[in-house]
Amino acid sequence: MDRVKRFAVPVLSIFFLFLFCGIAPGAERGPMKPIAPMMIEHRLIDRILPVVTAVKTDMERTGKADTEAVAAIVDFFRFYGDEVHHGKEEKIYFRELGKKELSPRHRALMGELIGEHETARKIVGSLAAALDRYKKGDGTALKDMEEALGKLPGLYSEHIRKEDRVLFIPSLEYFSPAEQQELLEKMRDYDEKMIHEKYRKTVSDLRAKYQ
Ligand SMILES: [Fe+2]
Ligand SMILES: [Fe+2]
Repeated sequence: MDRVKRFAVPVLSIFFLFLFCGIAPGAERGPMKPIAPMMIEHRLIDRILPVVTAVKTDMERTGKADTEAVAAIVDFFRFYGDEVHHGKEEKIYFRELGKKELSPRHRALMGELIGEHETARKIVGSLAAALDRYKKGDGTALKDMEEALGKLPGLYSEHIRKEDRVLFIPSLEYFSPAEQQELLEKMRDYDEKMIHEKYRKTVSDLRAKYQ
């Protein structure tokens, strides 16, 4: 089964890239769709989910936490998952989609997805807090980390399934080709700024502590 997955995931990803770039066999070459950056980001999030489960299983087996792995997971979901990815959805795509005359089903789904972003933030916040407590020797923190790690994969895989398969593709019809291009440009600008903001914050946090 794993071998099938290892083969199927890259093949499907390449197919999606063809689809998004408008260069599927027989199709005319066209501009990338604005849902493409978000769907490509979903593939990286998909790849960390089994790791989250493995870190939790390892914790349960050993009774100890790999604090570096948990810190990396917290950073991934806070920076990449939330600021970069949810940020792109909420501050660009959903914001513009919300201005359209959406069907009641699409509007409800968009609200549900934004609510799930909030749930993910809370889970990652409790994981980060439990990691801090664990580092300080709090004996109850391990269970809390396991609980948070146990919730993330299910939440994200279902969330991503709804976005990829239910909302994103039909939602393109609400936007004109020019609007789609504008959304794509906004997303590119957003990504460009993001890395600079991350390290500006690192420097200002360090300066606040040491200067
Ligand atoms: Fe989302
Ligand atoms: Fe997403």
